[in-house]
Amino acid sequence: MIDKIKGHIAEVESFNAKTKDEIEAFRIKYLGKKGILNDFFSEFKNVPNEQKKEFGQVINELKTTAQAKVNSLKDELDKNQEEKGVYGDLSRPAEPVEIGSRHPISIVKNQIIEIFSNIGFNVSEGPEMEDDWHNFTALNLPEYHPARDMQDTFFIQTNPDILLRTHTSSVQVRYMENNKPPIRTISPGRVFRNEAISARSHCIFHQVEGLYIDKDVSFADLKQTILYFTKQLFGKSKIRLRPSYFPFTEPSAEVDVYWGLETETDYRITKGTGWLEIMGCGMVDPNVLKNCGIDPKEYSGFAFGMGIERIAMLLYQIEDIRMFYENDLRFLEQFKSAL
Ligand code: DAH
Repeated sequence: MIDKIKGHIAEVESFNAKTKDEIEAFRIKYLGKKGILNDFFSEFKNVPNEQKKEFGQVINELKTTAQAKVNSLKDELDKNQEEKGVYGDLSRPAEPVEIGSRHPISIVKNQIIEIFSNIGFNVSEGPEMEDDWHNFTALNLPEYHPARDMQDTFFIQTNPDILLRTHTSSVQVRYMENNKPPIRTISPGRVFRNEAISARSHCIFHQVEGLYIDKDVSFADLKQTILYFTKQLFGKSKIRLRPSYFPFTEPSAEVDVYWGLETETDYRITKGTGWLEIMGCGMVDPNVLKNCGIDPKEYSGFAFGMGIERIAMLLYQIEDIRMFYENDLRFLEQFKSAL
């Protein structure tokens, strides 16, 4: 008889049920008034004395196992029903959900932010509508300075003091006016120039400005920072700095990255040289530091500025800058997989 009970224990342990009725039938079979357990209990008096102890133990084990089984099956059933209540039928085929995508300008902007934030740069912003001081004068471009012509400016109505910023360098000025060195900041944003729209240029575009001010900052720091950036963004580790001119930096340089000459596209976009210009940079002119309330005898620093469209066009091989602003879903949908 003891073996028989043990057989029942094994059966109970391996039992499984999916519906309420099945569980109830199981409960009645074992634990009901006329169930198996009660049958065994009523046999108890007929068991020889020397076996009573062991018989008692196994019959109790059968009882607790059966009860535990019934409870756990009920719990499981309740849980499944709760989930179904909230989520519906989890096994049904999914509905096709239309997911959106980030704009390629945002994707590239976020990548640039990520790369610089990894080396301690924060993100700062300034207004798109600027005054003459922040966009020009503080940046060493006084009135009548010929370099103002480099950037065809949109003015607001007839007030020549208020304009749409022509570059994000204006944010440098604002940042230095409001923060003490050490400064490490990048400033992404929209800029405006009164230029004819073509495949290569637009009157609205985006830039990222970078600014690093501290004690003893050198041109070597600038070059190393830019090299780190080009490695991270393009996976290219050869750059060159060509002497150039910007009123707000001295010395100034333009940065070329070695793109290579492996494909026909490489030949075309680099005009057969393998080199591509990606940004302007330089050591912040002492006059600019002074204009922003920073002592050039104590501090030095570098700045750089790049166009986001240009970089996005390189990374995604986009031929026409106008694509960015036309909101053509056939174009935008191609960026779904990017973050
Ligand atoms: N502001 C320049 C432009 O719009 C780009 C630039 C060049 C920014 C050199 C800088 C810099 O900070 O150092 O063309």
